[in-house]
Amino acid sequence: MSPPPDPPLSIEAVRARLTTRIIGANLSVHDEVDSTNRLLTDLAHRGAPDGTVVVAESQTAGRGRMGRHWVSPPGLNLYVSILLTRPQVTAALTWIPLLAAVAVVRAIRDLTQLAARLKWPNDVLVVRNGNGRKLAGILVEAIGGSPAGTRLVVVGIGVNVNMPLAAFPQDLRSIATSLLIETGRSVERAHLLASLLAELEVLYDQLCDQGPEGIAAAYRESCDTIGRRVRIELMGSAPVEGTAEEIAPDGALRLRGADGKMLEIRAGDVVHLA
Ligand code: BTN
Repeated sequence: MSPPPDPPLSIEAVRARLTTRIIGANLSVHDEVDSTNRLLTDLAHRGAPDGTVVVAESQTAGRGRMGRHWVSPPGLNLYVSILLTRPQVTAALTWIPLLAAVAVVRAIRDLTQLAARLKWPNDVLVVRNGNGRKLAGILVEAIGGSPAGTRLVVVGIGVNVNMPLAAFPQDLRSIATSLLIETGRSVERAHLLASLLAELEVLYDQLCDQGPEGIAAAYRESCDTIGRRVRIELMGSAPVEGTAEEIAPDGALRLRGADGKMLEIRAGDVVHLA
């Protein structure tokens, strides 16, 4: 039997589920956009407030990390961008992608009991038979600054929710997954979105009020990269290999190379080798 269809996302359906104070107080839901990150960046330049949320049923030019494309067909998944503008974000910028990853893991666990894991910095995976398949991705873009020098941050999150395997492009079928594939059940996206925004608000408040220590501890608990042999593909230079030893105080990945030297990686694509 095929799972019951999830109703289209609507502003009413999302509002009916929202429990947040700030995140999502200013909300728009679109049928189709090029990229929710692109649209929210425009809104931010025009003065959108802290916590503004843009959601779309589909994206024609969904952006992924490292210049990649994010597959964004209609009716199946979650594509959402959240604007963070509090001044504390500027000092803690490197923690925002990790904070968002923890929020995604918690929301997925709340709704489905699935124990999603993280690949540094913010790939959300389900590990099955020793293989991690990507369930969600996060793209954080820091934009312009205010006259006071603070940054505005757009957090873009894509979660594969009710996507059957056959709907993924062939080349992604062995490396991607969805909540439907993992649990056999369809998930109401408005519910998942509300849960995600609630988790994000808790962590955002925590970061702004207490600094990143609590976020760091939660991140380490869900991170599968620490202690592994990894290869890291870097933008514009040769890949590096080593053992991922720890998360640095700014969220960077500390990698012990074959020569015993410690490297701090701030951006890259990690491959878990063992
Ligand atoms: C990744 O490559 O892992 C990051 C993917 C991020 C995709 C999301 S979907 C919503 C938001 N809008 C975009 O254009 N990208 C992000």
